Amino acid sequence: MIRAEDALAAAADQITRAQQNKGLRPTIAGFFDESTNTVTYVVSDPTSKEAAIIDSVLDFEAASGRTSYGSADRVIEYINSNNLKVMWHIETHAHADHISAAPYLQEKLGGKLAIGREIIRVQDVFGKLFNAGTDFERDGSQFDHLFVDGETFKIGELEGIALHVPGHTPADMAFIIGDAAFVGDTIFMPDFGTARADFPGGDARQLFQSIRRLLSLPDATRLFLCHDYKAPGRDEFAWETTVKQQREDNVHVKDGVTEDEFVEMRNSRDATLAMPALIMPSVQVNIRGGRLPEPEDNGVSYIKIPVNAV
Ligand SMILES: [Fe+2]
Repeated sequence: MIRAEDALAAAADQITRAQQNKGLRPTIAGFFDESTNTVTYVVSDPTSKEAAIIDSVLDFEAASGRTSYGSADRVIEYINSNNLKVMWHIETHAHADHISAAPYLQEKLGGKLAIGREIIRVQDVFGKLFNAGTDFERDGSQFDHLFVDGETFKIGELEGIALHVPGHTPADMAFIIGDAAFVGDTIFMPDFGTARADFPGGDARQLFQSIRRLLSLPDATRLFLCHDYKAPGRDEFAWETTVKQQREDNVHVKDGVTEDEFVEMRNSRDATLAMPALIMPSVQVNIRGGRLPEPEDNGVSYIKIPVNAV
């Protein structure tokens, strides 16, 4: 078990090494899905061509129950045209706003599917909500790998480290690869602020602590966000920023905002937010590693909606 301070120090060291050595910096491509405001990243090592796909999107039309693969196929096209070899499909957390395309991409491209170890807690909470029965394993076994805080990994020559950043959900992880940090749903662009903390298992106080942990990384650390919703006065989508910009300008958590101030702001704001349109299908499928529920005896897979339970 790695101590949290040691994990953070190791991440800062890794970032500094990559800032000094171009060969340790990843090539990063972001693919924005406008219907769920999600950014999928392909992170690759320019030398070995090994790559990771972070937070992929399966297109899903809720009204008809139809899935499609336009977003995922754009990623496949990029992978193939750059001759990349996919080693990892990484989820920063079990998303509540889109279904993961990881199983589809894994079938086409190979690579291991990974998420944070605390997914087990999320599976427990939502397994109960969806009355998933004993055949639904609540042990993370739907994934090939479960990351813990401070765990290191490689993508070719690139160094990676996983940091546990709970608050939005108990299982959220940030992945530091070279000098870049993929921060999932913690912080958004400085003019938009932070992720909500009101889903089952979410906690605004934990979220603040996780964000401040990320913002203690070196100033020039490149931060890549999971979502963008534009912001008043900004007409373009954006998903890349730095630690320095966030510490100076983030409307929710810039330097000087106290934990108590943040918690009060976050909780009162969350009380006004509607549930994401796709929360029920998304969570139900994503806690299964992105696999649809087993088809019933007519061969059709069904997604449940719990009535008056949330
Ligand atoms: Fe999320």
